[in-house]
Amino acid sequence: MAKCSSEVAVLVVLCLFLVDLTKGEGQKGKCPEDYRYRVETCVMEAQVAPQAGGGLPLITDVNKLEELCERGILQKTIDCLKDLLNRCSENVTQRQELDMLFSVEEWKQGQQLLCEDLNRKLVFKNHFDCVSKFGSKISHCILVRTQNFRKEITTAGIVHHRKLHDITCNFAETIVSCLERPLAHACPIQVVDTMVSALHKFLPPACAPVPTLENPEKRLFPKRQDPLDDPLEPIIFETVIVEGGEAEN
Ligand SMILES: *[C@@H]1O[C@H](CO)[C@@H](O)[C@H](O)[C@H]1NC(C)=O
Repeated sequence: MAKCSSEVAVLVVLCLFLVDLTKGEGQKGKCPEDYRYRVETCVMEAQVAPQAGGGLPLITDVNKLEELCERGILQKTIDCLKDLLNRCSENVTQRQELDMLFSVEEWKQGQQLLCEDLNRKLVFKNHFDCVSKFGSKISHCILVRTQNFRKEITTAGIVHHRKLHDITCNFAETIVSCLERPLAHACPIQVVDTMVSALHKFLPPACAPVPTLENPEKRLFPKRQDPLDDPLEPIIFETVIVEGGEAEN
């Protein structure tokens, strides 16, 4: 009897699996209604997106790089984003929104930067002591910036999307500079450069700084001058706010 019921269970699971497969093949899976939130969920696990307060584990957790690369966490994130893009690309509006939130190509480049060069990884490991020395300083910086960001967002309320966009992108850039500033003075340039370049790949493309600016100091406050200037709903950039930056120490 017990054997029988376990067989039934296996069958049911198989059936569900098959149903899932056919659904996936038939219509590639529908775009989920909460697709913006899904982006967040995809990105969350890797803990490397600056707008999610990310990047910190790279300098505080000696195993982080291995987890991202060898254990495939970055690949999983990329697959998750790719899947979402596939499912939502029929609708131009949704596609455009997603294109502003992430770029699979850029994520892949970030992955390459962090994972594919064995030499670089060795350098990373060898200089982990240098980098990790600044862990508490950097996490404090991220914490403060995250709090400021929350305050700013709350004060701004549901204002024009442009303002929310600017606030969010500034925030993402400040998170990168939280990491970059202390390290740049003390640790080998290759390590810092690789990390910072990779983090930039994980930023929403909507935050990409305009390549040539008259005032290089303004680089941290990128002004976008792209053709996509039509209003996006503020919610997009609201959903990018995440808990990741809240470091405890
Ligand atoms: C495309 O997506 C937008 C936003 O989710 C929605 O309002 C619109 O109705 C969709 N258009 C089509 C043709 O499905």
